[in-house]
Amino acid sequence: MKISIIGSGYVGLVTGACLAEIGHSVTCMDINKKRIINLKKGILPIFEPQLENLVLKNIKNKNLNFTHTYTSITEQTIFFICVDTPNNNQNRPDLKNLFSVISSLGDIIKKDSVVVLKSTVPLGTNQEVHKRLVKKISKKKLKITVVSNPEFLREGSAVNDFMRPERIIIGTDSVKARDILKSIYKPLCRKSDKIIYMSTNSAELTKYSANAFLATKISFVNEIAEIAELVGADMHEVRKGIGSDSRIGKDFLYAGLGYGGSCFPKDLKALSYFQKVNGLKSSIILATQERNHHNVSSFVKKINLSFKEPKATSLLVWGSSFKPDTDDIRESLAIEVIKSLSKKFKKIYVYDPEASKNTREFFHDFTNVAFVKNKYNQISNCAGLVICTEWKEFWNPDYKKLSFLKERIILDGRNILNRQDVEKNNFIYKGIGT
Ligand code: UGA
Repeated sequence: MKISIIGSGYVGLVTGACLAEIGHSVTCMDINKKRIINLKKGILPIFEPQLENLVLKNIKNKNLNFTHTYTSITEQTIFFICVDTPNNNQNRPDLKNLFSVISSLGDIIKKDSVVVLKSTVPLGTNQEVHKRLVKKISKKKLKITVVSNPEFLREGSAVNDFMRPERIIIGTDSVKARDILKSIYKPLCRKSDKIIYMSTNSAELTKYSANAFLATKISFVNEIAEIAELVGADMHEVRKGIGSDSRIGKDFLYAGLGYGGSCFPKDLKALSYFQKVNGLKSSIILATQERNHHNVSSFVKKINLSFKEPKATSLLVWGSSFKPDTDDIRESLAIEVIKSLSKKFKKIYVYDPEASKNTREFFHDFTNVAFVKNKYNQISNCAGLVICTEWKEFWNPDYKKLSFLKERIILDGRNILNRQDVEKNNFIYKGIGT
């Protein structure tokens, strides 16, 4: 099928490349001309495992092409909208980009069309988009269906998540649109039908609830981790103990610094904002956010208390991205930790396998934050190591090289090292609830 993707950022690009890979003829549109020129050459704006290969392969076999003009997609009838909806300073998703796309689309649509919203949007937005489109094309006598098809991709494993979805949510009452989406996703449903049909309102709420529930799980284990530290329990054991109950499930029970990224923080803020303006009580969602902020301050406190003279002490930090396998530092708690440490310690040396460019830009004005190209560089100038992101290359450190740390203290904000191993090598180990 011929599909246009509007917005070639993280979601749009993954969606476009994967739809091309499963046999569709995809045009990715973005008004950012420079981005499109680069994409045509196979240069991606983000780092995401497997994505580059997929893009290059599908450019070559002509399933995937790029444009920065709406006029190139004017004959099309299926439009996936994947523009960003960042929160404005009131914690409310900013729909400026989305509505500008809708307006441009209204101008160029020539045939009956299906408009699929992948962007995470405030409750009720699909209906608003439909209203705006209908108004815009009122003279053209066309039928437009708006479908809510929220994405559940995780950064770092987005291609895999797209290709092996646990569910595909299709929010629309239109039977015709359901059939179109069903055939688009058919190659992903060979083993079992992954599609769940519902109304647009339910689809929007499903997306927010999924993220809020996962974030709540994380905040819950982090609260338990604090109790574990006090009573001398071990969160690795507690996690296995509770996760083996299928009603609880094994995933998302890892205690640590908490959640970051462009999704959970934004979506929880948007949900609690929605509750507030509609006079609803927000208790769990607010508590989840509070707990997440508290993790950073309690970890930083733990680090401060570990060194006698912070102002005369330098630290090495491993990891600045909000999670492994991405260069994304948006709402990264690692960044918050580094920021706080830089105020209290002499110098902070940061290493990240992919996010160093973004991190360097962020800390441009910080005179005592420096970046190292290798994770052991500057180690002899540092008293301790702080782990903020669980990149695989940090899981088995070379303890011989780490022994240059002046005070041999390791603070593990992601609980990836084994206490026995660390202590056997004569280091002091401090994790989260372990
Ligand atoms: C999240 C959801 O998992 C996706 O399903 C959703 O599509 C996406 O948001 C979105 O709305 O676009 P993502 O933000 O990429 O995906 O990352 P996750 O893997 O979910 O991790 C989020 C944060 O939680 C990370 O900072 C991670 O370190 C943290 N986390 C995760 C924990 O602290 N503990 C855990 O046990 C799991």
